[in-house]
Amino acid sequence: MPRYDVLALCPRGMESIASMEISNLGVSNVIEGRGYIESNVDEHLLSKLNIYARTITRVILIIDKGEFIDLRDLKNKISGISFKEYIDAGQCFGVRCERIGRHSFRSIDAAREIGGVIHSQLMSRGVRVCLDDPEIEIVLRIINNRYLIGINTSGESLHKRGYRVYNHPASLNPVIAAGMIYLIGWDRKTILIDPMCGVGTIPIEAAMIAMNIPPGIFRETHKITNLRFIDTDYYWKLRESAKSKTQFNIEKKIIFGIDASPKYIEWAKANSNAAGVSRIVSYFTGDSRRIYDIVPRNSYYSAFNPPYGIRLTRPRAIPHLYREIIASLKDVGVIKGAVISGSYHTMKSALTKAGYNITRDLVVLHGNILTHIYVFSL
Ligand SMILES: C[S@@+](CC[C@H](N)C(=O)[O-])C[C@H]1O[C@@H](n2cnc3c(N)ncnc32)[C@H](O)[C@@H]1O
Repeated sequence: MPRYDVLALCPRGMESIASMEISNLGVSNVIEGRGYIESNVDEHLLSKLNIYARTITRVILIIDKGEFIDLRDLKNKISGISFKEYIDAGQCFGVRCERIGRHSFRSIDAAREIGGVIHSQLMSRGVRVCLDDPEIEIVLRIINNRYLIGINTSGESLHKRGYRVYNHPASLNPVIAAGMIYLIGWDRKTILIDPMCGVGTIPIEAAMIAMNIPPGIFRETHKITNLRFIDTDYYWKLRESAKSKTQFNIEKKIIFGIDASPKYIEWAKANSNAAGVSRIVSYFTGDSRRIYDIVPRNSYYSAFNPPYGIRLTRPRAIPHLYREIIASLKDVGVIKGAVISGSYHTMKSALTKAGYNITRDLVVLHGNILTHIYVFSL
């Protein structure tokens, strides 16, 4: 079976979790970079990653990589690649360029020039350039004098799960939410509390993990199936069989989501319904500074994403809010958890003051906000 070098992209800082996850899915010899994992997979694993992986955002099939001097040199190198192996007669393609470093050309120029090289190779076969929603998206990554050219097999980022009916103005990236659940090593029996659940991202990702619902089954774009050189029937079969392997035998509510806003709780319920996880998640409207008024004291796990004091909450309110939330989590019985915050010094001090030990500290880029994920336990 053909094998391909690939880059699995992930949010910066999540590489160790992403590489653990894709290794568990069967990928071997993973190399962690900054914001990506590099490996070599067969075409079945390529499909599997696009359907099953929760902690990566895109899978790029690498066509070529190397060093270049200037745009002319890059064009020369790329014109030596036979693109008919990747783009079939009559298909349309587009080139997207991501560039880091100082160059004498803009990203848009590089994309246009490289697109021209590919088009002149294939136009006699009826291949067209289309920039909006191309069948084959060619990715050109340039970092200083290094380039990588490949195909985006995922299309739209895999963090767009396809189950969200309602969005929160400060919603968490589901890829990061899933990573937080992996980080705490949740046993799927002890109840998991998100005391600031917004529209339910963390509860839903946790529930999908518990019920073995693959994140790819709600997505409506399947760009990998445009790659005529791979076995795309396998992708459809895998997707169907993934649906039939979900676990519906969990009888208890093993996840609690709480938020102060009744509107967000309604939206969280709608999102949970859309993801098919309502049977194991309970939502409550309430003030998590007094969680013990909302749910009984017990032994709990927790994962949450409080306001950072950047967009929606006043920065001055954050230290007090964090102290009260952490004290309330401890009081209700949280023994282990993970929290992501952009006000990380404040969060660290609230956790340590309450007597929690920080067992892992990951610096993660959430969008363009620098955050820390702390894993904490008693
Ligand atoms: C950053 S948002 C969480 C977003 C969520 N992770 C998602 O993806 O939708 C923080 C949430 O904390 C809630 N919140 C703030 N103070 C709260 C409190 N004292 N008790 C409960 N929820 C609170 C807000 O209503 C907001 O929805």
